[in-house]
Amino acid sequence: MIIAVDGPTASGKGTIAQALAAHYRLPHLDTGLLYRAVGRQVALNGGDPDSPEDALAGCAFADALLAEPELRSEASGGLASRVSIHPAVRSALYDRQRAFALQPGGAVLDGRDIGTVIAPEAEAKLFITASVPARALRRFLEMQNAGRAVSLVDIEADLAARDARDRNRADAPLVAAPDAALLETSDLDRDAAITAAIALVERLIPA
Ligand code: DC
Repeated sequence: MIIAVDGPTASGKGTIAQALAAHYRLPHLDTGLLYRAVGRQVALNGGDPDSPEDALAGCAFADALLAEPELRSEASGGLASRVSIHPAVRSALYDRQRAFALQPGGAVLDGRDIGTVIAPEAEAKLFITASVPARALRRFLEMQNAGRAVSLVDIEADLAARDARDRNRADAPLVAAPDAALLETSDLDRDAAITAAIALVERLIPA
């Protein structure tokens, strides 16, 4: 069984995908981390994330980079969004994601284009949304708890910019697959969002 979980940044898709993976005992791939690693590698190379050549060179990152805490930062998220625009980067990362999706027994993948491009045949597709203010507040509290000095206004502006870039790029934009179930999490806490996601998967997957 393949479960595709797509949605914008800080929508709760990562938490939901992890919980679904634990619930159904499936391996989980956070595909955003791959794009974050590319962006980080470009920065380490001293390259320009907006240059298709430099971004493609960043795809040769070593797997050890995936474990770097720095990849979770807002700066890495912004770099990831910029390198993810380039079709050559998307195709360089395709095989790895596709192979993960097709492993025997199935998998849960979260990202932006899982239900549309990476695994269009997924048995269950969820598209997770939440309002910009709700997502910005979540991110703000997360960062505050991590001891980082951040401004809610800056986070909201960053989120809106990243959303616009992810939704408007020509190749594999962030969009719900026509057969995805929508889950709006603005007013749901973590547990309620997970319960709702499991209920949707149960409805989408024949027993
Ligand atoms: O999910 P995330 O915030 O870690 O993703 C970081 C960026 O990577 C996101 O802004 C766009 C890009 N991305 C993508 O283009 N396709 C994916 N499947 C996952 C992430």
